[in-house]
Amino acid sequence: MERWQGRVAIVTGASAGIGAAIVKLLAENGMKVVGFARRKERVEELAVEAKSAGFKGEIHAFGGDVRVEDDIKRAIQWTREKLGGPDVLVSNAGVVAFSGLTEIGTEDLKKVLDTNLVGACMFTREIVQDMKSRGVNDGHIFHINRFGLFSPKVRMHILRGCAPVPILFQHGWPQHSQLPRHLCLCGWKARSEGGHRGVAEGAA
Ligand SMILES: NC(=O)c1ccc[n+]([C@@H]2O[C@H](COP(=O)([O-])OP(=O)(O)OC[C@H]3O[C@@H](n4cnc5c(N)ncnc54)[C@H](OP(=O)(O)O)[C@@H]3O)[C@@H](O)[C@H]2O)c1
Repeated sequence: MERWQGRVAIVTGASAGIGAAIVKLLAENGMKVVGFARRKERVEELAVEAKSAGFKGEIHAFGGDVRVEDDIKRAIQWTREKLGGPDVLVSNAGVVAFSGLTEIGTEDLKKVLDTNLVGACMFTREIVQDMKSRGVNDGHIFHINRFGLFSPKVRMHILRGCAPVPILFQHGWPQHSQLPRHLCLCGWKARSEGGHRGVAEGAA
């Protein structure tokens, strides 16, 4: 983590679970972290916790919804103005629908896809554009995902296609072994990891 001291990360889905744990870990290890979630007050509590625990880094709360393009743009702009701009994105915000593809209601279907897929793609696009405009050449993008968007049995496989990111780490993507190849075609390094399928890597 030495090279990341004082660098800036945005973590989505920062108000609970895995996202909150990542926020704390990065700040503990010296990064400036912007925690993005709708429940901003929960991230503010993490910031207080980090201060009183004497973390090397810092936590900032940003209230927003990954389904709203303007919230994403505002978060990146705020990070640029206050902290110099993001070097890392941990795209973690996600929701699960507890019904199969053949039963799920349309509203729930839209919610899952807009949060887990469209939101993650929009955040990635915006942050890569921001990194490029600032000449960041060692930025990292982490996509935390799940194996199936739906539970319990019916899986929906949607290829995310070619994302122009320096390094992409994807947890649980069903066709993860194909992903580095897609990314390499774009000229980027890629690493994709799935819990039970091992690791696939590629480099431009
Ligand atoms: N837990 C597992 O076993 C598991 C396994 C595989 C993959 N994953 C993946 O890991 C990620 C985190 O899972 P978790 O278990 O930590 O989830 P969680 O405890 O339910 O937390 C979800 C986080 O996502 C945020 N979020 C949801 N919708 C959002 C939106 N529209 N805009 C912004 N933030 C939003 C929530 O914040 P607000 O509600 O405050 O906005 C919350 O901070 C998810 O992508 C999930 O699919 C989890």
